[in-house]
Amino acid sequence: MKLLTKNLLSINELTTNELLQLIELGMKLKRYPELCKNLCGLKNKTMAMIFQKPSTRTRISFELAMLQLGGHAINLSQQDLQLSLGESIEDTAKTLSVYVDVIMARVYEHKQIELLANNSSVPVINGLSNTFHPCQILADLMTIKEQKGDLNHIKIAWIGDCTNVCNSLIYGCSKLGINMSIASPLGYEPNIDIIKESRKYISIEIGDNPSNMIDQADVVMTDTFVSIHNINQQNERIQKFLPKFRINSSLMKKANKNAIFLHCLPAKRGYEVTNSVLDSTQSVIWSEAENRLHMQKALLLSLFDP
Ligand code: CP
Ligand code: NVA
Repeated sequence: MKLLTKNLLSINELTTNELLQLIELGMKLKRYPELCKNLCGLKNKTMAMIFQKPSTRTRISFELAMLQLGGHAINLSQQDLQLSLGESIEDTAKTLSVYVDVIMARVYEHKQIELLANNSSVPVINGLSNTFHPCQILADLMTIKEQKGDLNHIKIAWIGDCTNVCNSLIYGCSKLGINMSIASPLGYEPNIDIIKESRKYISIEIGDNPSNMIDQADVVMTDTFVSIHNINQQNERIQKFLPKFRINSSLMKKANKNAIFLHCLPAKRGYEVTNSVLDSTQSVIWSEAENRLHMQKALLLSLFDP
């Protein structure tokens, strides 16, 4: 069962095989919940969860994952730690390493989680940085596999802001050979280095016309236009993205007939997506949210199980 040797800071660190095995394990844990009781792979293990930003799904799913696997999680907001009064990330990492078995952290700059990992002797999991959200994409790929049955020969369209979730999705797709199209406003294009690297493995069409980019998509995805770290650009972003990049029912009709809709949540209902799409039969957002729990368990087991 053990797949990963240490950290998960970005999907790009996983091999295709590791990614596929994680998805399979997540699906198995969902299908056979009693497996978790027998596995107890994390008995007496403790995870420190550091949140420099708010979280609903990541926090609850990791805490429950530890509990259901026989371990324990300690939730630490920035204010709970001496980090808020100036203790360095390096010293925080070294201190936590002498107490806990794994650290999960949600941070601002991606280099903060790298610093944490470089100074920790226990595994570090990225629970979202400004640049990447690998755990979200593990759950999303599991959701797509569950819904479509197969990850081959599908196309994913990303419409809207090229966020941390989008960056991780591009890497995930490049590992699995899933072609993509991305529609975002001029000036908000996807990260060029990630695109260049990923285009070695998949085709990625990029444009600023959502109707063109959604054409023939089997999966349609988006995220907020105003990520937590962009909150001070709220007004300019809303003006730039709306109304053109809002996913509504008529835009969804331009995707393939059986296309599904995913959103990592939280959604700003009526902004990046309408209620008519979020609450439609094409939307799989609640399975996607549930799958966070199954994938966190798969990830934790793959770090620890002998
Ligand atoms: N999708 C996601 O990571 O949600 P939270 O911010 O609630 O953890
Ligand atoms: N892009 C969003 C994702 C939230 C889960 C953010 O960083 O705020």
